[in-house]
Formats: sequence, structure tokens, C-alpha cells
Amino acid sequence: MVKAVQVQSYGGPEVMEVVDLPVAEPGPGQVLMRNTAIGFNFIDTYHRTGLYPLPLPTGLGVEATGIIEAVGDGVADFAVGDKVAAMGGGPSAYCEARLLDAPMVTKLPDGIGERTFAAAMLKGLTSWALLTQTFPLKGGETILVHAAAGGVGLILCQWAKHLGATVIGTVGTDEKATLSKEHGCDHVIVYTKENFTERVREITEGRGVPVVFDSVGQATFEGSLDCLQPLGLLASFGNASGPVTGVDLGILSQKGSLFVTRMTLGTTLAMPGKMTEGVAALAEIIRSGAVKIEINHTYKLDDIQQVHIDAENRKTTGSIIIEP
Ligand SMILES: NC(=O)c1ccc[n+]([C@@H]2O[C@H](COP(=O)([O-])OP(=O)(O)OC[C@H]3O[C@@H](n4cnc5c(N)ncnc54)[C@H](OP(=O)(O)O)[C@@H]3O)[C@@H](O)[C@H]2O)c1
Repeated sequence: MVKAVQVQSYGGPEVMEVVDLPVAEPGPGQVLMRNTAIGFNFIDTYHRTGLYPLPLPTGLGVEATGIIEAVGDGVADFAVGDKVAAMGGGPSAYCEARLLDAPMVTKLPDGIGERTFAAAMLKGLTSWALLTQTFPLKGGETILVHAAAGGVGLILCQWAKHLGATVIGTVGTDEKATLSKEHGCDHVIVYTKENFTERVREITEGRGVPVVFDSVGQATFEGSLDCLQPLGLLASFGNASGPVTGVDLGILSQKGSLFVTRMTLGTTLAMPGKMTEGVAALAEIIRSGAVKIEINHTYKLDDIQQVHIDAENRKTTGSIIIEP
């Protein structure tokens, strides 16, 4: 038996239960992976609430690192004892161990620890896709990143800075502002105290920015459009404050023939070779030291409800690791 989180019905953090589940031997093409570190991601809250619906009952959690404990027939790429990472698929990473189809698993990149990669894989690949595909940075742009002190935020800001951008970040508190300045932000706006659109206009001397990376969603959508220069791109990629709905496209013409995309990493990773390319780029930037992965919170699997309570109450910064 292994401990695993189960959700029987959508709702608040209280719907997550830690239960004991049996684990079978791996079938053909499968591996048994024992988790060392589980990465928390905000999407886990969307799965829990049903914002992103799943068949119930369901597990939760979309990424973890660990060790291969057994392999099924026909698995040639992995051996017992290999250090690996797994991301995506049906949410079930919040557990001590689980069976996975071998293609879901990737070897841990050389020189990168299990905690670091569990803290970095989804957030780092998202940052990479945003900066190389959604809005390929050339260097020299001034850009806006919301939730700059968050898990994705710290990675995205450091990476953008490394690529030559001037980064304006928005955060909820002064403490988060200090952290963001240490991780790639040239300017930080505390958006609970200042009007971020006015501040962006001031910082850019009225020009606005060519791109806003917005994972906050509903609360920032209109303000983000107001930060853009003509023909600018709002790269919306999350719903931390709720989803953006019911948009009248006319608003994009009024505000300067703007572009909007609702980016999801899955689109990029479905393209041939992109997973390998992204993991290589992420591993390289971490090894270079240009992007530091900050694990600012570690919890036990038994305390999973507290993880979600703290994240949803904006109490966390950087990456969160859950130990099985
Ligand atoms: N599209 C994709 O493929 C993709 C992939 C990965 C992540 N994401 C998205 O990227 C975002 C960041 O993910 P993460 O795991 O790194 O989380 P996170 O940024 O560490 O946490 C969310 C942050 O959003 C801010 N926020 C603003 N309004 C909020 C509200 N009403 N409730 C809660 N938080 C609010 C908070 O920062 P402040 O206190 O500074 O406001 C909070 O710390 C999420 O929206 C996630 O869904 C998207």
C-alpha cells in the first residue's frame, strides 16, 4: 500500500484526503516510480475545485521526481534505481509511489537534484515556452510579468532578464518585491498599493510594453491590456484570481489592435521534439546559474490541505515541494 491524495468531489482544500492505495506490479510498458519530491503547481487547485474538470474520484498533482523501483516488460529506457521525473498525464503525483507509462517519465538531467527538478520542471518549461514560442524575446524589450515572486514568476523573470529584457514585475507585498528584485526584476510594482497600469506607463515613459505575461487572470486582465503598446501581446496563461470570460473583442481594437493568447504548455509539448528541447534548455539554464530555483516551502504529504490553503491565500513565494 502507498499513501496517496484522493478527491471524491470538487471543493475547497478539505476535499483532499490522504488514503492508502494498493500498487500493482508494472504491466508491459509501465514503470513503478517512487517519489522523492512532488512539485506543487497552481493548476492543482484548478483540478481540486473543478475549474479544470476531471473524472471523479481523482488523484491530484502533475509533477514529481523520484526513483524507478520496478519496470514492466518491454521497457528498455529505464532500469531499477534510475533517477527520473514525471510530468503531466492524469493528475496523480501526490503520492508515495505510482505506476506510469514509460513515455511519461524522463531521466533526471545530469547535475540537477530531485528537489530542484520537481520545483522547476513544469514552471521552468512554461517559462521557456512563453519566452521562446509565445513571445520570442530578442533582448532589449521591457516586459511586464504578474505574480513575479511566484513559482513561475521567479523563474520567468530571471530567464527573461538573462535573455536581455528589462523586467517589470508585479507582486502583492513588499517582501515579495524584495525577492523579485533579487530574481530578475528591474522594477517591481506592489499592486495591492499602487495602480500597476499607471506605474507601467511611468516606467516606460508612456510607451507601454510589447508583452504582458499574465497568470493572475480575471483581476488583472483589463489592466494588463492598458499596459500594452499598440499591437502588443497579452500572454494570458493562468487563472490565479479566476478565469477571464466574456471578452468583447472590440476592446482589442480600441486599445491599439492588441493581440491576446491564452497559452498552455501542453500545446508546445505536443509538438515533436519540444519536450526534449525544453528539458535540455531548462537544465542548461539551471546549471549555468542564470536561473536559480528557489524552494521556499516544503511540506509533508500529510499536510496537503495546508499547501493549498497557503498557496491560495498568496502566502507562498517561489516553488513549493511536497515530501511523500
Ligand atoms: N498555461 C500553462 O501552461 C501554465 C503552466 C504552469 C503554470 N501556469 C499558471 O501560472 C500561474 C503561476 O503558477 P504557480 O504554480 O507558479 O503559482 P504561484 O505564482 O506561486 O502562485 C500564484 C500567485 O498568484 C498571485 N495571485 C494574484 N491574485 C491571486 C488570487 N486571487 N489568488 C491567489 N493568488 C493570486 C499571488 O501572488 P501575489 O501575492 O504576488 O499577487 C500568488 O502567490 C498560475 O496561474 C498557473 O495556473 C500556467
